[in-house]
Order: sequence, then C-alpha cells, then structure tokens
Amino acid sequence: MIEGLLPPGVASSEAFDDAAPAPLFPAEAALLAGRRERRRRQFATARACARRCLADLGHAPVPLLPGPGGAPAWPPGVVGSITHCDGYRAAVADHRTHTSALGIDAEPAGPLPPGVLGLITSPAERAHLATLTEAHPDIFWERIFFSAKEAAYKAWYPSTGIWLGFRQATLTLSPTGTFTCVLHPPPHAPPANPHYEGRWLSTSTLVLTAVHREG
Ligand SMILES: CC(C)(COP(=O)(O)OP(=O)(O)OC[C@H]1O[C@@H](n2cnc3c(N)ncnc32)[C@H](O)[C@@H]1OP(=O)(O)O)[C@@H](O)C(=O)NCCC(=O)NCCS
Repeated sequence: MIEGLLPPGVASSEAFDDAAPAPLFPAEAALLAGRRERRRRQFATARACARRCLADLGHAPVPLLPGPGGAPAWPPGVVGSITHCDGYRAAVADHRTHTSALGIDAEPAGPLPPGVLGLITSPAERAHLATLTEAHPDIFWERIFFSAKEAAYKAWYPSTGIWLGFRQATLTLSPTGTFTCVLHPPPHAPPANPHYEGRWLSTSTLVLTAVHREG
C-alpha cells in the first residue's frame, strides 16, 4: 500500500503482522532489553522491512540504530523512514541522490482520542477539516491530519535535528489524495525548505501518509 504513495524507484516494504522471522543485530537487540514483547516484535519486523529496502538499493544489511531524536541512522547515502502501528509495519528508503527527504506514517483508522484535535490544529485548519468532513463524512480526516504532520516531521527532522510541535505545521489536505505541509521552524533552525508535499491513503483499518522530496 505504501508503495502507491511514493514515486517509482523509492524502495518500500510493509508487513501486516510479525509472523515472518525478523532477526536483529546484537546492537539492535540490546536496545530492546527490558522492553515489552510487542515493541520488540514491532521493531524487529520494521527493521526487516528496512533491510529489504536496503537490499533493493544494493546495500548490505546493517544495524539501523536510533540516532539523536529517535530518527534511525541509515547508511551514508541513504534516506529513509519507518512506521508501525497496530496491524501495520513499513519502511521506505532511497538513494540521497534521488531523494532528499522522506517520511511515512501509519495510524489506525478511526477518530482521534477526545481532546487531541485542538492540540494539533489551528482554528483555520479546523475550519478546513470541517469543510472536508462535510463533503466526505466517511473519511477520518482528523486522523489523516495527525498522520500527515508526523510524516512531514519525519522528513524534516533528520536534516535539521529540530523538534517541532504539531502547531508548528500548517497542513492543507486535498480529497484527491495529496497534501501540502508547511513547517514553521524557530529562528535558530538551520536553513531548510519548510514546504513538503505528500500523499495519503485511507482504508477501513488504516491511514497511511507519505512525504517525498526529490534529491
Ligand atoms: C517521532 C514521531 C513522529 C513518531 O511517530 P509515531 O506515530 O509515534 O510512531 P511511528 O511508529 O509512526 O514511527 C516511529 C518511528 O519513527 C522513526 N522516528 C522516531 N523519531 C524520529 C525522528 N525524530 N525523525 C524521523 N524519524 C523518527 C523511528 O524509526 C521510529 O521507529 P523505531 O523507534 O522502531 O525506529 C512522534 O512520536 C513524535 O515525536 N511526534 C512529535 C513531533 C511531530 O510529529 N510534529 C508534527 C509537526 S512537524
């Protein structure tokens, strides 16, 4: 499914359970010591997806350890992103020469928990959501909003190292399956293009979003 949200040539791999064997490198396994079994399996399956992406790009399997801020440290010359939620794990990656920014996010389909919408949107965005909901009441627009901002953050963070809150992003969604996310970084942030383009997909069980910028 995630493949359809990204341009041809971007490597992608996804899984809907943790059934397939997903061995970890010792350094990865050490990170998970003491963590719950659910997190271990989710992490391992997503790492297996990531290593399938690396293989597609001609890279040998390597440990993918979290760097500062939690972003996975991909091998030099590779940009990528990982996501997992109940019933879904995925990774995407590409050569930096082709892709300069990549972010994906998966969420369970359904409304956001009470109180969350006001924390992640501006009044103008809530008006935009109301318009979308009126026209297409069967789509979980709020959940797509949440996911798209997270995908944009995952594309932004590795090149800047700057954390941004949900209100530091302005999202515009199109019912045709695309979105634009404009970030509002603080003045001390390194110079970086704050405009991200992405695509979204909503099924009966999942919301998926992906942000991609060419290299
Ligand atoms: C980091 C964050 C986006 C992860 O999203 P999530 O829905 O909680 O979890 P997901 O399963 O989709 O993604 C987790 C994966 O994201 C990746 N990730 C974590 N931090 C990251 C970062 N700073 N940059 C890029 N990728 C990151 C990791 O690969 C992680 O999986 P792993 O720990 O198994 O390696 C979220 O926890 C967060 O901190 N959000 C606040 C910032 C934000 O989203 N702002 C929005 C406006 S810009």
